[in-house]
Amino acid sequence: MRIRLRENGPLVIDLPEGSRYLLGGEERVLERAKLALCRCGHSQNKPLCDGSHKRVGFLATGGELELDPR
Ligand code: FES
Repeated sequence: MRIRLRENGPLVIDLPEGSRYLLGGEERVLERAKLALCRCGHSQNKPLCDGSHKRVGFLATGGELELDPR
């Protein structure tokens, strides 16, 4: 699994479109092939990013994590 740290933005996890995930005990279907998680702390839709990082001027370095689930 690959997690991208967007410069000045969220953590983005690439998953197959249609993947299912649990949020607050509720099962949801991923409509896009990625899941963006807030890391600025200002989203009104936590843990998902809602774009608030731009409004608040969140600054963070970008990067990438490659996880090898075994
Ligand atoms: S990172 Fe986008 S709203 Fe927090």
